[in-house]
Amino acid sequence: MNVQKLLSSLGPCCAVIGAQWGDEGKGKVIDLLAEHFDVIARACGGANAGHTIVVNGKKYVFHLLPSGALHPGKTVVLGAGMVIHLPTLLEEIHTLEENGIEVVSRLRISPAAHILFEFHKDIDTALEERRAKVKGKGIGTTRRGIGPAYMDKAARAGIRMERLGTDLRKELEERAKDLLAMYGITVQIESELQHLEDARKILNGCVTDTIALLRRSKSILIEGAQATLLDLDHGTYPYVTSSNTTVMGALQGLGLPPSALTSCIGVAKAYCTRVGEGDFLTEVEGETGERLRKRGGEYGSTTGRPRRCGWLNIADLNRGALINGFTHWNITKLDVLDEEPEVPVALGADADGKVAYQTLPGWKTSTVGVTDFRKLPDAAQRFLRFIEEQTHVPTSLIGTGPGREQMIIS
Ligand code: IMP
Repeated sequence: MNVQKLLSSLGPCCAVIGAQWGDEGKGKVIDLLAEHFDVIARACGGANAGHTIVVNGKKYVFHLLPSGALHPGKTVVLGAGMVIHLPTLLEEIHTLEENGIEVVSRLRISPAAHILFEFHKDIDTALEERRAKVKGKGIGTTRRGIGPAYMDKAARAGIRMERLGTDLRKELEERAKDLLAMYGITVQIESELQHLEDARKILNGCVTDTIALLRRSKSILIEGAQATLLDLDHGTYPYVTSSNTTVMGALQGLGLPPSALTSCIGVAKAYCTRVGEGDFLTEVEGETGERLRKRGGEYGSTTGRPRRCGWLNIADLNRGALINGFTHWNITKLDVLDEEPEVPVALGADADGKVAYQTLPGWKTSTVGVTDFRKLPDAAQRFLRFIEEQTHVPTSLIGTGPGREQMIIS
């Protein structure tokens, strides 16, 4: 493992961005790099994200806090692009503190981040039901209220973190009337106010000018949420999330200029998964899909839904590299392919959606826990080289198991 060489190639401001439909395993590389950066920042999205990382055999799932928050002493930033469900945030803080990891004193939240209320979740559900009725299917959202919170933000009707501690009763009462009329939703005003009060007690000192803080920081690790194909503008619309999940969305969400960024790691699984509805050209069903799902443990960390599974699509990786300017790949979960007799890789699709595959030989050997590229079976090396050749981005990090140490760094 040559972490020092990797770090010098990353420079002081590195973003980690998913290249597929999320769940690529970004948490692990973040966890590996976090100890070498001063600030770990999340920029966009909300509790729809679910970063799972395994440390000393213990599994942690984060929805709002960046997974880098596990590292004591690091400053943790939640940027202006986020929509924050306060009870979830308090719960995550509490879980970490129960495990001896103090968070509040090092947590900084942008005053411009939006508060996501319980009623946003109710609207999410109401809209999904409406879509199912009208179109026969919904988007398959996480029902965490993400779309409705961003709808409020775009309508300039949202409530931001800067207002924590102010009296919001009148505003919520007005909102309750509208939501009852529009969706038949009853807003639980007292409980919403209680959540705000609980959050005020703990988080008031955390709301601060994160832009100034980031400017002063020596090094910043940006933890992307969701992924490129779920981007509101560049993803598989309308089956996308409601934020900008690319590196530009991350910079915007944090208020960082593009010139600050020194590297961008694209994270992609060695195969591909998707939760929710929408096209998935390389999806495989039946026995093979089930095998990938089982070996990869492909069940949503936020909703527990089984993930749809399929083969790697180089065209998506190339597009992700173009949009985000990836400087490094982190190819995760290589070991999930260990049993495959052959590994089809999609090169793209024609206008009718017919996919062209190149079928690479499988390796039928365990790669679990391999930490040296040269110790990988030849066919696995060939698979990784193929990704590099096709995308012109080096495969600098390769995941060979869920644990922190199960990683090749080259
Ligand atoms: P929303 O973000 O809850 O509105 O969901 C919109 C789409 O994005 C759905 O297909 C979700 O399954 C998907 N999605 C949102 N967040 C994540 C994530 O962190 N990982 C994977 N898929 C996600």
